[in-house]
Parts: sequence; structure tokens; C-alpha cells
Amino acid sequence: MDIYMDRILELHRNPENMGEIPDADIKKLDYNPSCGDMVSVFVKMKDGKVADAKFRGQGCAISMASASLLMGAVKGKTLDEIGKMGQKEVFELLGVDLSRNPSRIKCAMLPLIVLKKGIKER
Ligand code: FES
Repeated sequence: MDIYMDRILELHRNPENMGEIPDADIKKLDYNPSCGDMVSVFVKMKDGKVADAKFRGQGCAISMASASLLMGAVKGKTLDEIGKMGQKEVFELLGVDLSRNPSRIKCAMLPLIVLKKGIKER
């Protein structure tokens, strides 16, 4: 568990996949209603799959690490495949099971929730 927490803290300090995609096919900004932390996602599609995905945001270590890892994980996936992702997949990416900590679940899930809203509104 500690090595995974180290990874989460490291991604908070030095995020991966952070930035914007000016000509993104999917753009969505939304908030975690329980704390006000914010994530924007940008996705560029090519041939029915995610060619690139980036995020911007301000939030706790778990939400920012989740965004870094999720943007990396969705590259090469179809939107249907992303639609099937849920809590289990996010916990696997983070390497921690937060299921007994409801407020942290919201942190971890924020990027995927924002991405799924963006896909729906596309
Ligand atoms: Fe706001 Fe984690 S405390 S997303």
C-alpha cells in the first residue's frame, strides 16, 4: 500500500498527461460537489479510438493521480470501453482499494465521472 501511496503523491507533485488539447473532440469541466475540486478533460479521437487524452485540474492527491493515470489508460480505447470502466478499474489504476472510504471514492472517481459526462454530451 505504501508504494502505491508514494506513486500517488509523486503524481500529485509531477502529474502525467496534464495539459490541454486545443482541437479536442471531447472537452468537459466539472467539479466534485462535496469539495469543489475541479477537473477538465480533453480527448482527441482517431479511427474510433482515443488518440490522446489530457487533463487540467486542481484537487487532492488522489483526484490528480487518478486523472494522470486515467488519461494514460484510456489511450487506445474506444468510447464504449471507457463507458464500461468503473470503480474497480480506477482502484486498479491507483493501486489502492478505497471502497471503505466514501469521501475518497469521490476523489478517485472524479476524473472518470467528468470524462463520461463529456462522452455523453459529445
Ligand atoms: Fe476534492 Fe479529493 S478532496 S477531489
